[in-house]
Amino acid sequence: MTARKIIIDTDPGQDDAVALLLAMASPELDILGITVVAGNVPLALTEVNTRKVCELAGRSDIPVYAGCDAPLERPLVTAEHVHGKTGLDGADLPEPTMRLQDRHAVDFIIDTIRNSDPGQITLCPLGPLTNIAEALTRAPDITAKIAEIVLMGGGYFEQGNITPSAEFNIYVDPEAAKIVFGAGVKLTVIPLDCTHKALTNPARVKAFRVLGTPVGDAVAGLTDFFERFDKEKYGSVGAPLHDPCVIAYLLQPDLFQGRFINVEIETASQLTLGSTVADWWRVSGRKPNATFIRDIDDEGFFTLLTERLGRL
Ligand code: RIB
Ligand code: CA
Repeated sequence: MTARKIIIDTDPGQDDAVALLLAMASPELDILGITVVAGNVPLALTEVNTRKVCELAGRSDIPVYAGCDAPLERPLVTAEHVHGKTGLDGADLPEPTMRLQDRHAVDFIIDTIRNSDPGQITLCPLGPLTNIAEALTRAPDITAKIAEIVLMGGGYFEQGNITPSAEFNIYVDPEAAKIVFGAGVKLTVIPLDCTHKALTNPARVKAFRVLGTPVGDAVAGLTDFFERFDKEKYGSVGAPLHDPCVIAYLLQPDLFQGRFINVEIETASQLTLGSTVADWWRVSGRKPNATFIRDIDDEGFFTLLTERLGRL
């Protein structure tokens, strides 16, 4: 079986870190490179965090590229209140020794897709869509060559998490999201409607810890820290593991259910900026442009995640 070629775009963030580990533990995926964007914390931290996680997994062979340090048209909004000052609070990972690539992340995305056969590469954005939008704008020719974009972002029934109506990744750079959602690339969206059903709980965090490995301990520590915000805000039992759902979708899509519908991004209204207007009931007459995932088999998801983390 040929491994699926992917580029992960990320803003670690505890849940990004777990997504990266899941991907690095899965031989079905060939990670051509990891591109980093500003989001949960500034770029100077998200790029270091990415390299820390690669080294934790013993995967310093994967090239890491720093990308955009701010949204296309707006000042950066970060989420230290969720992820802590470092962006990876909860696990004390050593400073990385692997080097950061010199090339800009957007150049890596453009060159890699340009030099690939059509339909070979899947983009997996886990943060604000600035790098992806920049690549599609600078090199519209690559649009036709991208196999699929599978991203974490948005929310419809769940509405928002950074504002009442917008999810963080979309809210930080709504203009970038509008470009990506309007590019005509095969698009699968993993929104809060799905990820809010992928909640940690004490038994699931214990399953990470009993792996008895540095990866298991780190993931238990990261999720312990990450969950305090959501437990307080939503009164939930644990934290939603947003970004690992993207990787799990690549590995086991039958764990997920959704609909091919029209999804548009609000970029004009101050009140609802960054909301994903998902035409779930197909009333708008607008052309469908995304598979919008609403449900997940959370037991199956955590079984997959824990088994794979145990391989590192
Ligand atoms: O809203 C959740 C998303 O925003 C996740 O990707 C999290 O890492 C943050 O980037
Ligand atoms: Ca993220």
